[in-house]
Amino acid sequence: MIRHGEQWRRFRSKVQRPILQPQTVKKYVAPIEMVTEDFIKYMEKARDENGDLPHEFDNDIHRWSLECIGRVALDTRLGCLSPDLTSDSETQRIIDAAKFALRNVAVLELKAPYWRYIPTPLWTRYVNNMNFFVELCSKYINEALERLKTKKVTSENDLSLLERVLRSEGDPKIATVMALDLILVGIDTISMAVCSILYQAATRLKQQEKMAEEIRRVLPDPSKPLSYSDLDKLHYTKAFVREVFRMYSTVIGNGRTLQEDDVICGYHIPKGVQVVFPTIVTGNMSQFVSDPEEFKPERWLENDGRLHPFASLPYGFGARICLGRRFADLEIQILLAKV
Ligand code: HEM
Repeated sequence: MIRHGEQWRRFRSKVQRPILQPQTVKKYVAPIEMVTEDFIKYMEKARDENGDLPHEFDNDIHRWSLECIGRVALDTRLGCLSPDLTSDSETQRIIDAAKFALRNVAVLELKAPYWRYIPTPLWTRYVNNMNFFVELCSKYINEALERLKTKKVTSENDLSLLERVLRSEGDPKIATVMALDLILVGIDTISMAVCSILYQAATRLKQQEKMAEEIRRVLPDPSKPLSYSDLDKLHYTKAFVREVFRMYSTVIGNGRTLQEDDVICGYHIPKGVQVVFPTIVTGNMSQFVSDPEEFKPERWLENDGRLHPFASLPYGFGARICLGRRFADLEIQILLAKV
């Protein structure tokens, strides 16, 4: 994710197909549903006598997203939703390491980069933390390699995402980098998105009821396992999520460094300049969206009014578009369907 140019292109071309294929994502409906059921049990226990969840509930959402991504990228249940984790358990160390990485990457990237010249204490801790992640990924990747030796495979569909990448690339390093990227990018983004979606659902009762009605209609039997095709029928629920992204996009924008001089909207922009597409701004501009201040999921279902296809790009656009977007959508839909 922090690679650029040819190095980035080479890596992305190796993992993009298996990660983004709908048939890969479909395989994870049941595993993510199981993780989410455990999360719901966890939430039920965490409620206080008034039924309220703890203030630090966003931390718990991080645990859920880490558990989801561990299942996808490492073929394992990390155990992050277990209620009584000791501070020295591997799982607690993973949670702490993920938090440390997420909190400090921005500090290293955006503040004066002294670490480029001398190994500052924060840089040294960051590197040690990353080494912990590499070791963790290697452990589960070695287990997957062992499993593959005896696994009967008649088609690609018998393989998990990790197994597919291991088999097609024959180099465990590619699988390690993939797992690291998915874990490090796939926790904070989705957790923030889910906090925002749940908050909007909690404070917009009319729309919440419409969503609940749709979920009850499409999924009348809560004990029946979810299917990808049923989730696909949750049109209003998906429109609700898109509307949250439009108004309160989790990632406020994304940037590119121009590789050549270019002309954008009549402005000459020289090579090397960083340009930013501020999706949170464009998604709220009346030039591109009718009545942008109105929270209206229906706008994504009905063809009336202005809605420029590029106004809201929560997952970015182009060759670097979010690699985990199908998993992100799936995790969000499953959570909303189950909650
Ligand atoms: C709702 C949650 C998420 C949002 C809003 C989001 C948004 C984004 C955005 C805006 C980018 C940059 C795209 C660009 O520059 O055009 C990105 C990149 C990326 N995302 Fe996500 N993301 C989310 C969830 C996830 C998840 C769950 C994963 C992992 C399973 C993930 C993995 C990645 C990776 C690996 C990249 C880097 C892609 C590259 O540079 O080739 N994202 N994401």
